[in-house]
Amino acid sequence: MADMPVITVDGPSGTGKGTVCSFLANWLGWHLLDSGALYRILALAADKHAVSLQDELSLAELAEKLQIQFTAQQAGSLVKVMLDDEDVTDAIRTEACGNAASQVAAIVPVRQALLARQHAFCQPPGLIADGRDMGTVVFPDADLKIYLTASADIRAERRYKQLLDKGIGANLRDLSADIRARDERDSNRAVSPLKSAEDAIIIDTGELEINEVVNAIRKHVNETFPNLQQ
Ligand code: C5P
Repeated sequence: MADMPVITVDGPSGTGKGTVCSFLANWLGWHLLDSGALYRILALAADKHAVSLQDELSLAELAEKLQIQFTAQQAGSLVKVMLDDEDVTDAIRTEACGNAASQVAAIVPVRQALLARQHAFCQPPGLIADGRDMGTVVFPDADLKIYLTASADIRAERRYKQLLDKGIGANLRDLSADIRARDERDSNRAVSPLKSAEDAIIIDTGELEINEVVNAIRKHVNETFPNLQQ
């Protein structure tokens, strides 16, 4: 793992991290770690096995045992998430699952249990790591660290439009309240709080189109890895 090139992309949800990371992984042909999916899968598994979100030790045990498989058609494109032979790709994307994920993510033994799984994604030819603590805790020696940010209102509006596009009814005020509550919990937890690494490049995506964000990051990638062959 020592010499493997790693790019970390951290920040709260709704900043465009997922889109940026899929683009980077496809462009470079590198692996993609969607670390939020791991916390979401654990929250879903807890529900399935009737484990309380307060039962820290059982949650950590569950995190160790989970049979998770990410199936990509090609390096970088996350197509299917399997939990114990069940396709949970859509089930982990609900607002309820995201909120439960943020609760299990605040538990220290859970984060420890998921650490080795995250390191295992670091395989040749390189890794794009998407999350909250990729640059600060999981891959502190990453070659390039990006931190995406945007106001809670803008992120809530983006999420609202995404849900409407999918034909899912949503209430903007509720979404905004959920996003603020999740930000609050993710930023103020004792372990691995959401924050930018000191050496991260911070990009406010609030007023930018996604292609402008991608182009800005591409420049940084080219500067960091001048000899890359895409
Ligand atoms: O990114 P996503 O919305 O899928 O993450 C779901 C939740 O998982 C976040 O709200 C956060 O609480 C948690 N998470 C985390 N550390 C990460 C990735 C996600 O705590 N590296």
